[in-house]
Amino acid sequence: MLFDFLVTPRIIFGPGSSGRLGVEAKSFGKKLLLCMGKKSLQSGGMIERVVGPLKAAGLEVVYFGGIAPEPTLSVVAEGLQIARRYGVELVIGVGGGSVIDVAKAIAGLYFQEGRVEDYFTGARELGETVLPWIAVPTTAGSGAEVTRNAVLSDPASGRKQSIRNDSWTARVAVVDPVLTMTMPRRLTAQTGMDALTHALEAYTSRWATPLTDCLALEAAVLICRNLYSAYRKGSDREARQQVMLGSLMAGMALNNARAGAVHALAHPVGIRYGIPHGMVCGILLPFVMEFNLTHAAEKYARLARELGIVSGDGGAEEAAERLLHFVRALKQRLELPARLGEVGLEESDIPELVEAALESGSLAANIRKAAFSDLEEILKKNL
Ligand SMILES: [Fe+2]
Repeated sequence: MLFDFLVTPRIIFGPGSSGRLGVEAKSFGKKLLLCMGKKSLQSGGMIERVVGPLKAAGLEVVYFGGIAPEPTLSVVAEGLQIARRYGVELVIGVGGGSVIDVAKAIAGLYFQEGRVEDYFTGARELGETVLPWIAVPTTAGSGAEVTRNAVLSDPASGRKQSIRNDSWTARVAVVDPVLTMTMPRRLTAQTGMDALTHALEAYTSRWATPLTDCLALEAAVLICRNLYSAYRKGSDREARQQVMLGSLMAGMALNNARAGAVHALAHPVGIRYGIPHGMVCGILLPFVMEFNLTHAAEKYARLARELGIVSGDGGAEEAAERLLHFVRALKQRLELPARLGEVGLEESDIPELVEAALESGSLAANIRKAAFSDLEEILKKNL
């Protein structure tokens, strides 16, 4: 057995953990760039939970707000310009996966010459010198707080892909479930299904290891048991906490085992039709599980037994079928569209979408080898 496991050096988890942000940030410098989204923190006094501790610690905060979902290369370039103009010593990303990935890219590219595009296309090689950065997720799904890649889009080429480097790992992840309490129901469903997809794809990945298996299996259990409760009643603190823990663990597993066919398809589909990432993943997950069923039966069966949705004496295939049935039902209870056709997928686009998915590194990690015709069939079932 031979494996490599990369982990965020410090993870501070729990309700109220954002209160420690000032003390943590202060250890890296006095002036920081605070990256934020459009509205994630503006409701329910959440902004005070983050800015309050920073101000109390006497830190100088430079704001970079209004970051929209599915961030583009130009958003990162704009943030870099602000960060360099003020000479910040630290970057903090407070928001969903998009905001955190922008903060990650700004910190990672701060000392690099050239354009963001050069690193996106691979024209320039990344150096290892980065600014320290802290991740503070306000959604429970992306796992971006513990991953080394930033998912960015280039509207000019229509490409959505990652820039990744081990040195892009956050110095600290402050994971406070209270920050997710005001997430709207739709966002709870979409981000939660993204996290469940991370858990299941990492669990069944070709690069899964005993360490990623522990994390991915437990993450899947936590999310399956609690996501619907968090969706139904957003104020359910316990459910929110368990889903956020699941998302964190799934992100750690994903960072080391990579994803699978859902993510390979989710990027081209998401960018083509402007569908949120979590929604695409949630819609596609059962279709890809069905495709993987024969190859992933043992692992799906183990999860089904952990969840108590199958009796102990049934065979692996039967138990795996039960898990597939459970995930389909969860998707329905979360009121996600049944098929991508309901949110824009056109039959004539399928060949081009499949071509783009075939280039994805995620596809190479999928437990069952998927050819053009396999992905085409998955998308045709989605019309
Ligand atoms: Fe994802």
